[in-house]
Amino acid sequence: MGFQHFTTCFLLALCILSQNLAKGTLGFACNWGTITTHPLPPQIIVKLMKDNGINKVKLFEAEPMALKALGNSGIQVMVGIPNDLLDSIASNVNAAIAWVDQNVSTFISKNGVDIRYVAVGNEAFLKTYNGRFVQSTFPAIKNIQAALIKAGLGRQVKVTTPLNADVYQSDSGLPSGGNFRPDIQNQMMSIIKFLNQNNGPLTFNIYPFLSLDADPNFPKEFAFFDGSAAPVVDGSITYTNVFDANFDTLISALEKNGFGSMNVIIGEVGWPTDGTSNANIKSAQRFNQGLIDRIVKKQGTPKRPTPPEIYMFALLDEDAKSIDPGPFERHWGIFNFDGSMKYPLNLGGGKSLVGAKGVKYLPKQWCVIQSQANVMDPSFAQSMSKACTYADCTSLAPGSSCSGLDTKGNASYAFNMYYQTFDQRKDACQFNGLSVITNIDPSPSQSSCHFEIMIDIGKHENKSTSFAAPKTGFEYIMFMLVSSFTFTLSLFI
Ligand SMILES: *[C@@H]1O[C@H](CO)[C@@H](O)[C@H](O)[C@H]1NC(C)=O
Ligand SMILES: *[C@@H]1O[C@H](CO)[C@@H](O)[C@H](O)[C@H]1NC(C)=O
Ligand SMILES: *[C@@H]1O[C@H](CO)[C@@H](O)[C@H](O)[C@H]1NC(C)=O
Repeated sequence: MGFQHFTTCFLLALCILSQNLAKGTLGFACNWGTITTHPLPPQIIVKLMKDNGINKVKLFEAEPMALKALGNSGIQVMVGIPNDLLDSIASNVNAAIAWVDQNVSTFISKNGVDIRYVAVGNEAFLKTYNGRFVQSTFPAIKNIQAALIKAGLGRQVKVTTPLNADVYQSDSGLPSGGNFRPDIQNQMMSIIKFLNQNNGPLTFNIYPFLSLDADPNFPKEFAFFDGSAAPVVDGSITYTNVFDANFDTLISALEKNGFGSMNVIIGEVGWPTDGTSNANIKSAQRFNQGLIDRIVKKQGTPKRPTPPEIYMFALLDEDAKSIDPGPFERHWGIFNFDGSMKYPLNLGGGKSLVGAKGVKYLPKQWCVIQSQANVMDPSFAQSMSKACTYADCTSLAPGSSCSGLDTKGNASYAFNMYYQTFDQRKDACQFNGLSVITNIDPSPSQSSCHFEIMIDIGKHENKSTSFAAPKTGFEYIMFMLVSSFTFTLSLFI
């Protein structure tokens, strides 16, 4: 018995030790968005996260395929409730009970998903929503909390609500002047008190890129962690980057309202790689490497030395997102849409970022403009416009990776995106006789402009079923319209 006891203790100690070692250097969190025409298989995404030490993930909604793949993966999950469900959940506790039952309890008990948080709404107080969700957010939070307690999950699963950093501001322009926006001050106080009572964290999204992109006078270097910008001096504190300054504005706001030690999570932070001139590989790598270095060093901000939990935005590019926020919106991924590498990152502890494995692609063929096509042809503009309405042409935007193409190059890029988006179907390379299929890669050499090949999602044309093709196309278009609409309501950053 004595020996057995010793062995058990010893093994247990070894297990704990090796677990801690495994967690020691790695341990990142990220957002997994699914607004894409060609989703990677969820199992490949889960493997990609594990290979890169990502052990926490945030989903914008309870996407069943994603949740199932996360079952028994060792990855902790935050599940979001989209804004368009807030009204019904706020007005009826039974709707909250049904949501928790279908989207939390079932996945925990049947699929072994380690759900730790429910994120009620997404940036619900964003100024651009004009108060649309201000009344429903707090009641929805209360009903979800009640539903979690009823389901016996009150301890295991915490409630939060991810908010945009525009819910706080500073009249003095310095972090110490931070306070909540007057129009939502009361709502904020109710939510903070309630979350505090129930051990739920506050979640905020902070975007140095958006600060820079929105303001031509923003000192660019201040957006980066290793920047050489003139520091901002706030009393005894010196700020060298906008992330610290922004986060401490929030901490000041919390202190002023009596919640200085409230638990805070960063729900989104990142840098896009295409769509505008500030969105490029070099800046994204610089920003995200700086962020990762801080996470690895467990470095906080001047006012809060203990670092928050930080969910990077995002894991992958999403080509069907609304571009209302800007043409960069589809390019936030640390990886490309197919899980391939955009740029290397040092993850600490001798580890480097690695890309996805086992991805299946469509054949190496592209749709391009015919060499003899006339750009003055009246159907030329119409074809371009059709291609760019249903496929992603944001890499052609000024300052983007393919902005250097000439008019014909532009058309080839657009035609190919359409052709790939529609799974290389033959009828997807028919632009009024202006286009042709080629197996020579049209990507310009010496350029970051890349003519994509889509991944194979099992919709590749089957000759015997070409009759069904128009229906699939229509369904797809409907899907695009619905998802961009949903996005406008729920994911606007
Ligand atoms: C569960 O979540 C999905 C995805 O957001 C949603 O469509 C569905 O309505 C939810 N279930 C309930 C019962 O609310
Ligand atoms: C290429 O397309 C982009 C986006 O539509 C446009 O801004 C640009 O002016 C075009 N360039 C040429 C040379 O036609
Ligand atoms: C089409 O489907 C048939 C039967 O499932 C299969 O044998 C054939 O290889 C498929 N063709 C293509 C082009 O995928």
